[in-house]
Amino acid sequence: MAEYDYDVLVIGAGPGGYVAAIRAAQLGLKTACAESRETLGGTCLNVGCIPSKAMLHASEYFDAAANGAMAKMGVKVTPELDLDTMHGQRKDAVKQLTGGIEFLFKKNKVNWLKGKASFEDAHTVSVNGEKVTAKNVVIATGSSVTPLPGVEIDEKVVVSSTGALELPKVPKHMVVIGGGVIGLELGSVWRRLGAKVTCVEFLDQILPGFDGDVRKEANKIFKKQGIEFRLGTKVTGVAVKGDKATLTLEPAKGGDAETIEADCVLVSIGRRPNTDGLALDKAGLETNERGQIEIDHDFRTKADGVWAIGDVVPGPMLAHKAEDEGLAVAENIAGQTGIVNHDVIPSVVYTWPEIAGVGLTAEAAKEKGEVKVGKFPMMANSRAKTNHEPEGFVKVIADAKTDRVLGVWCIASVAGTMIAQAAQAMEFGATSEDIAYTCHAHPTHSEAIKEAAMAVTGKPIHI
Ligand code: FAD
Ligand code: NAI
Repeated sequence: MAEYDYDVLVIGAGPGGYVAAIRAAQLGLKTACAESRETLGGTCLNVGCIPSKAMLHASEYFDAAANGAMAKMGVKVTPELDLDTMHGQRKDAVKQLTGGIEFLFKKNKVNWLKGKASFEDAHTVSVNGEKVTAKNVVIATGSSVTPLPGVEIDEKVVVSSTGALELPKVPKHMVVIGGGVIGLELGSVWRRLGAKVTCVEFLDQILPGFDGDVRKEANKIFKKQGIEFRLGTKVTGVAVKGDKATLTLEPAKGGDAETIEADCVLVSIGRRPNTDGLALDKAGLETNERGQIEIDHDFRTKADGVWAIGDVVPGPMLAHKAEDEGLAVAENIAGQTGIVNHDVIPSVVYTWPEIAGVGLTAEAAKEKGEVKVGKFPMMANSRAKTNHEPEGFVKVIADAKTDRVLGVWCIASVAGTMIAQAAQAMEFGATSEDIAYTCHAHPTHSEAIKEAAMAVTGKPIHI
């Protein structure tokens, strides 16, 4: 009889966990995955990346029709919002994609253990009270919304991203607490559909972690679109009466309080790792001061045979980072060499225009040494200009001595697609000259990356 029920037991079927489970099974390991949700795919497929992109895509069409962008190209329409249908296509996308993971589990013979898992010891996990043993356990339990002290999320008037995806009607005034990725994406959805949107951000600028020029330019663009920003401001309380909320705001550095009214408040001040109820201590584990599980370069925790990946470990909370860690951890468990280059993880905000970056910001790069920076405006890119998408730029940051590319940042309608070539170039150790001398198809938005790379040496053609 085998010593363990499974070679690998993954806890959590988000992009980290389901990818780890499928890869482990592909590598010939007997694999199970415990997931407490009704459907597979985790935050990303159920209440994150996928439904938010479904709402962003549909609302972008509505906005283009409503704000005159289509009329400018000779397509005159007066849009009428059918919110039920919009929500319907969101639900369809989620259903199809989560169902797809269930199909892949069956195809690869990954056993889905339905229920909440908690450790009995490092190799024994109980799922819905039933004990399961495994030689290797991968913790991929993801993250949930960080609550704001004193503010109760009822998912009706005060919502998290989950409630904000499903609002049954367009709010008159939505206040978004936090000018990060969720606030800007979901704030954009409801702004496009007719809501007045106010974004309250604690820091002096939106989008922390992004390049300074990008943060400033993004702020300008969103302001022009109609989002009102209250920077350097904190929310100290939200009182709900019926279907209305009164928020108390104060300058972040202290000062007089004021109140504003809203009929929807989105709390999007970050996410925190899910470890409650896992009984980590029984496996000999604890969390760090940020609630994360510490791992080494190979995704091993300090408990023998227990590994961890995705949002529950340090690093950016992104689906593609979790997926790559899922692949790598399974390969490491199978005795192969699974590696994730954490220096080259792209970030994309799926607003209009999109905002994307990979590698170091100019500020971080300058702290490490001398850099050269090339910038190219989308206004001078023929495709963006033809498509009436003049906003944004590409910025390439290279090491002053070696010319090696250290970071690339873009604001452009298709920045999320463009950033892949920058990530690949950096993964191959490219110099700005390598990018500048790579033939890019014309007319494409990506030519702006080539020209920004040419600008590193001061020689772009079109500006
Ligand atoms: P998760 O996807 O959170 O999955 C963890 C799973 O584990 C969950 O299904 C949970 O039910 C399950 N679980 C937890 N504890 C237990 C337990 N004890 N037993 C059994 N099951 C358990 N990232 C991007 O890269 N691109 C985007 O466009 C993007 N958009 C987003 C939009 C929103 C609104 C949100 C909220 C997030 C978005 N993200 C996006 C972030 C992305 O969703 C996460 O980074 C990603 O889902 C993390 O994957 P994971 O596998 O670590 O965890
Ligand atoms: P975030 O970390 O992106 O932004 C939170 C913002 O809230 C920050 O700007 C922060 O300064 C601000 N803040 C914190 N406390 C505050 C307070 N008390 N008052 C006012 N502002 C406050 O977090 P967000 O937007 O909640 O997203 C969570 C995670 O989900 C992110 O880490 C992101 O990686 C992931 N995500 C990724 C997406 C993508 O890749 N397109 C889309 C949505 C989410």
